[in-house]
Amino acid sequence: MTSGGVLSGKVALVTGAGQGNGRAIALALATAGANAAINDLRAESIDRVVKEVAALGRGAVGVVADVTQTSQIDAMVARTVAELGRLDILVNNAGLICPHPFGEVTEEDWDQTMAVNARGLFFCMQAAAQVMKEQRSGAIINIASVAGRGTHSLSPPYAASKATAIIVAQQAARVLAPYGITVNSVCPGLIDTDFNKRLDDQIGVRQQGLEPGEYIRQRIATIPLGRIGTPQDVANVVVFLASPPANYITGQQITVDGGILCL
Ligand SMILES: NC(=O)c1ccc[n+]([C@@H]2O[C@H](COP(=O)([O-])OP(=O)(O)OC[C@H]3O[C@@H](n4cnc5c(N)ncnc54)[C@H](O)[C@@H]3O)[C@@H](O)[C@H]2O)c1
Repeated sequence: MTSGGVLSGKVALVTGAGQGNGRAIALALATAGANAAINDLRAESIDRVVKEVAALGRGAVGVVADVTQTSQIDAMVARTVAELGRLDILVNNAGLICPHPFGEVTEEDWDQTMAVNARGLFFCMQAAAQVMKEQRSGAIINIASVAGRGTHSLSPPYAASKATAIIVAQQAARVLAPYGITVNSVCPGLIDTDFNKRLDDQIGVRQQGLEPGEYIRQRIATIPLGRIGTPQDVANVVVFLASPPANYITGQQITVDGGILCL
């Protein structure tokens, strides 16, 4: 393994890291020196990112697990420690959205969204904290959203789940502070991943009858900094929060949205 970097020798676990923000976060952490466990639902996407992390000279392990299943979460954390030796950084990135407007939200939408974005996230925090408490150090970073901070919501369950991600980070920050573990949230705005390509189709084309791409163009036009965010924009903040220069920051939310919440 190559040495060097502010996170040299650290081990990170990133959920939902087979693509999009999670992949960028895993690669950014590895670039900063961390070895990484790559979680997602499907082996194919994981394998690609494991190879990319390994190509950076870091230790990498792929862990297929569904974060809605606590037994799979426990096995994922155990495998990370068994293969990479410890666990210093958990990034709770796995997430989904069911983009039905208020009057059309189903019970299934609600349960599915909360099961991944809130319940799964919480039990990943709990499992990782067990290991970090023994190590008496660690950093947990929840990928929330501006939707969890009260902006115009595309999906009520999504907004609720992301508000939960923020509040459980604050709760855990207090409980875990005596062990030297920080817990923070990152709140992205509009980021250029498949997530928004799907929303363009589901909301723009199917719900609003727009041309493909038009819905996203309209949303980008409302961003003060004038561009869509990149997964790297999100990953940069995660690396900072995971690094020693941020070790006096806990229980906070950092918004990465090009100014959406300034409006
Ligand atoms: N893209 C955006 O504009 C945006 C904005 C705000 C927040 N976010 C958040 O960023 C995170 C990543 O989103 P993205 O844009 O990369 O989306 P994405 O759909 O490209 O990636 C999400 C990943 O999570 C995985 N995943 C879903 N359910 C899972 C489960 N039960 N167990 C394990 N993995 C699971 C998916 O397989 C996928 O690889 C999500 O939490 C999302 O809510 C995204």
